[in-house]
Formats: sequence, structure tokens, C-alpha cells
Amino acid sequence: MSKITEKLEKEQFLEKEEFKWLLENNTPDLRADLSNRARRVAGQTFGNGVYVRGLIEFSNYCKNDCYYCGIRCSNEQANRYRLSEPEILDCCAIGYDLGFRTFVLQGGEDPDFTDEQMLELIRNIRSGYKDCAITLSLGERPRAVYEAFFAAGANRYLLRHETASEDHYQKLHPKQLRLEDRKACLQDLKEIGFQVGTGFMVGSPHQTVENLVADLLFIKTLNPQMIGIGPFIPHQHTPYKEAKAGTLEETLLLISILRLMLPKALIPATTALGTIDPKGRELGILAGANVVMPNLSPVSVRKDYALYDNKICTGDEAAECRVCLTKRIEGIGYEILTHRGDYPQD
Ligand code: 5AD
Ligand code: FES
Repeated sequence: MSKITEKLEKEQFLEKEEFKWLLENNTPDLRADLSNRARRVAGQTFGNGVYVRGLIEFSNYCKNDCYYCGIRCSNEQANRYRLSEPEILDCCAIGYDLGFRTFVLQGGEDPDFTDEQMLELIRNIRSGYKDCAITLSLGERPRAVYEAFFAAGANRYLLRHETASEDHYQKLHPKQLRLEDRKACLQDLKEIGFQVGTGFMVGSPHQTVENLVADLLFIKTLNPQMIGIGPFIPHQHTPYKEAKAGTLEETLLLISILRLMLPKALIPATTALGTIDPKGRELGILAGANVVMPNLSPVSVRKDYALYDNKICTGDEAAECRVCLTKRIEGIGYEILTHRGDYPQD
């Protein structure tokens, strides 16, 4: 066992069969070995620092119909909302005072939030917060729109590939959505100059070990600056409501593997991980993640941005995720860093 993990740490890559072996032999001992290595590797670049990003979920309207997602367009029970530009700017102001220097604007693919409105918003945030990074998570757009977003002052873009296997992609999405389009978007974003994040759900319906190996290989080739992974969690008003959730153990194993493959990547301990286990995010950091993304959305809309059931940080007590997460991170001997936290230059 330690031969493979040692090789992964040294070469930052493995043969397909070796990745497969790791995924099929996910024991506590293996996880401990990998997370020790992953933590050490993360520490070499980031010390005991963890970056924070303020997440603003500004619209849950979505034209897509992904079978796993709670805000899919055919979920008629979703309570739809869209924040106005002043409301979003308020979130930024509150976030800035709390020490956030990255704002993540995330929304469904909402056709009524026009590109022009988005550009105006980006420009306003850029001029109001010159020392902050602007991260977008708005799904697939034409290249020209991505270029305009970049020119307006956005710096980073999150777009998970979801699964790198064609057949699996089609089991998760209606046929209007195509893996090749998703990959082309990621390529465009990179070429334009965004710091790019991709990722996938762990334990998504019909996922096989081979699919996960393909995800790892895809990520190695894309070489993104950010990698977001979290467990799949069923949502009651989706076709996959009866599907099993992904596990804490498999997610932690994959975080460690990804850290060893891409030592300098920005890898969040996600809200989904915190949802399947009360200590999920802390365990994610201890497995090699180095980013947390507290929710900055107004408490009144948080429960409506429900991609999956039982999402944490949606009650009144969650008004202050920033404070909560700081305590959690300090509780495991790490420290929140409040600068922008760009991808480290070589
Ligand atoms: N469980 C976990 N993650 C989900 N996402 C969407 N639906 C779910 C779910 N049911 C993830 C997708 C998407 C990201 C914003 O949230 O990977 O890219
Ligand atoms: Fe949101 Fe703890 S991080 S309530």
C-alpha cells in the first residue's frame, strides 16, 4: 500500500490501475496514510492556512434540468428567488467588513439575469472592491460572454465537469447537456485567463470506480487552479430522490488523492461535505483541502438555494457562518487567511 501512496506523492500521478486500487481499498489505514501525505504536501505551500471565500447564491432560477439537482427547472416546488443588484452589493459590503477578499457569485443558469446585468454587477463590484477577487459560478455561456465577464473584472470561474465519462454524463443530465460542451467551456475559460475550477460529485447515481478514475485523469490533464468535490446528496424533488448519498470516507479519500496530484490547487471543504457529517469540513481540511466557503447570502433565501436536502447553514443561527467556520478551523489547529488567496505562482 505505502508503495502506491509514496509513488503518488512523489510523481503526482499514478497508472489507471493504481488509482483504481486506491479507490477499491479505501480502508481507515489507507485514508490515514493518504491524508498524512496530503496534509504535509498542502502544508509545504499553504502552511496551516485556510482561505475563505464568501459565497453569494444570488439566483436559484435555472433553465437546466439536471436529474440530481434540486433547483432543476422542472422542480415546481422550488421557491424561486433572484437577488437584486443592490441586495448582492449589500452582501459584498457585509462580507468585506467580515474580512472576505473573494466573492463567489453563484447562481443557476438564469436567463432572466441578463449578461448585461451581470456585466454591470461585475463592474460595480470590481470598482468598489479593488483588492478582492471575483469568482463566478454561472454555468455554461458562450465564449464571448466569458470574455466580457473577464474584461469587466472577474478573475475566477467555477464550472464542475460533473463526470468525465460520456455515458455517465448522460445518466445525470438531459440530452441537451453535453460533456463536450462542458469541456469546451472549461477550455475557453482557461484560454481567456480565468483561474478555473472544476470538479464532480462523489457517489453520484450510477458512478463507477472507472468513472472516478476518468475524473482524476481529466483533472490532471486540465490542471485547474481549483477543484471542488463533495458527496452527492439526494434531493426529494428530483428523479434521483431515492439514490444513495456519497460517503464521507470516499470524499475524504478523493480529496487526499487530488491534493497529492495537484499540490498547489485550491480545494474547498464543501458545504455538501459538512452536510453529510457534522465534522465533514474539518475532516476535509485534515484530508488536504485548504479552502472554506461560508455562506454570505441573506438568511431569508438560503433555504431556497437547495441543490440537495438538509443543507447546513440555512437556519437563523447561521447568520454568521464566518464566525462559525473560524472557530471550526481554529479548533483543528488551522488558521483562516484573509487575503485574496490566488493560485500560488511558481
Ligand atoms: N448533491 C450534491 N451536490 C450537488 N450539486 C448539484 N446537485 C447536487 C446534489 N444533489 C453540485 C454540482 C454542481 C454544484 C454547484 O453543486 O456538482 O456543479
Ligand atoms: Fe454556516 Fe457553521 S458555517 S453555520
